[in-house]
Amino acid sequence: MKITVVGTGYVGLVSGACLAEMGNDVLCLDLDPEKIRILKEGGIPIHEPGLDQVVARNVAAGRLHFTTDVQEAVQFGTIQFIAVGTPPDEDGSADLQYVLSAAKAIGRHMTDYKVIVDKSTVPVGTADKVKAAVRAELDARGENIPYSVVSNPEFLKEGAAVDDFMRPDRIVVGAEDDQAIFLMKALYAPFQRNHEKLLIMDLRSAELTKYAANAMLATRISFMNELALLAETLGADIELVRHGIGSDPRIGYHFLYAGCGYGGSCFPKDVKALIKTGADSGHNLRVLNAVEDANDAQKLVLVDKVVERFGEDLSGKHFAVWGLAFKPNTDDMREAPSRVIIAELFRRGATVTAYDPVAMPEARRVFGEDARLVYAERPMQALDDADALLIVTEWKEFRSPDFDVIKAKLKSGIIFDGRNIFDPALPKKAGLTYLSIGRP
Ligand SMILES: NC(=O)c1ccc[n+]([C@@H]2O[C@H](COP(=O)([O-])OP(=O)(O)OC[C@H]3O[C@@H](n4cnc5c(N)ncnc54)[C@H](O)[C@@H]3O)[C@@H](O)[C@H]2O)c1
Repeated sequence: MKITVVGTGYVGLVSGACLAEMGNDVLCLDLDPEKIRILKEGGIPIHEPGLDQVVARNVAAGRLHFTTDVQEAVQFGTIQFIAVGTPPDEDGSADLQYVLSAAKAIGRHMTDYKVIVDKSTVPVGTADKVKAAVRAELDARGENIPYSVVSNPEFLKEGAAVDDFMRPDRIVVGAEDDQAIFLMKALYAPFQRNHEKLLIMDLRSAELTKYAANAMLATRISFMNELALLAETLGADIELVRHGIGSDPRIGYHFLYAGCGYGGSCFPKDVKALIKTGADSGHNLRVLNAVEDANDAQKLVLVDKVVERFGEDLSGKHFAVWGLAFKPNTDDMREAPSRVIIAELFRRGATVTAYDPVAMPEARRVFGEDARLVYAERPMQALDDADALLIVTEWKEFRSPDFDVIKAKLKSGIIFDGRNIFDPALPKKAGLTYLSIGRP
């Protein structure tokens, strides 16, 4: 099939590359000329494990192309995926300007039947808006070319995106006409040879499904974070509680980790957008409001612990921070707890040396030139002259450090672990003070 992907970010590039991997001809469009230049020169503008090989293989096979030319992109694919960003607007709702501008461009340039697929995470009712935007452009041209609009939300996880796309748990397709359903079934047939994964539903249910999934996952995290705070006060251990409840198949072990808050490009904005959708339609989503409040507070829990030990004023104190990305295996720092933590340390007068295996270039962009923040080339180097260590992202390479070296380097001998990555006995044996989340 001939496929255009509009928006070549985390979702668009992974989708485009994986669809090409299945033998389709794919053209990826982005308005950011720098992104397209990097891709055309054989580079990858984001960090996503395994993506470089899939892209290289399919470019070499002549199935994957990149462009900034909107007209060329619209005319190329029968299926037009819209995978542009939907950042939060000032009131928390999803900002649809990029989605609608992509839809208008399709209406402006299309010359034959198109299936326009919303892959971006968009509020219920967006498919209708996309339909109307395309119709308005066609009307302005005096054309009546047929098209279908489909909702096909994406459930991939950054850090495991290629694998998730190639082996999805489910493929949700909201569609209303037979021709679009036929094409979507054909497109996704190679991804579900083992068993049927396609869930065909109406457009509004498909749109809501994506928000429901992210809201549920965020809820589990905030729930565990609140219980972790309670466990600390009561002298219980949240890790033991996690095992105790995860073994119940109705609960399960996934997404039950207490930590220093969720971040990333999806959970925070999708929870906000769903709350706003609820409010706009007369529903106060009380659970989700609490999920968000709990998460905002949780991002400061590590600094609260620092303040308990070092006092409100951290002037003259210097901290090592391990982990900047919002989670391991990505360079994405959107809404990352590290941003809130480092900003709060600065506000209280402290300075920081940070280390992250892949997100340091992104951190330089996020924080800009700032004398209060320097970067280390290796984790242990970040500890030079540090009063204490804060662990913010659970990268694998942090899991088995030499605790004696940490003890020798840290002035206070304190580790604040926001991700509970160590067995407390190990740092303790080295004479360190180990303060984690929800453990005595
Ligand atoms: N990142 C994830 O893990 C993830 C997972 C599932 C769903 N989503 C959703 O997918 C959507 C995209 O997310 P992302 O993380 O890939 O975003 P992103 O910011 O990485 O990429 C979006 C890209 O779209 C481009 N763009 C914007 N307007 C355009 C236009 N009119 N024409 C062509 N290109 C345009 C931007 O330049 C950018 O490169 C969002 O709605 C997001 O909520 C993201």
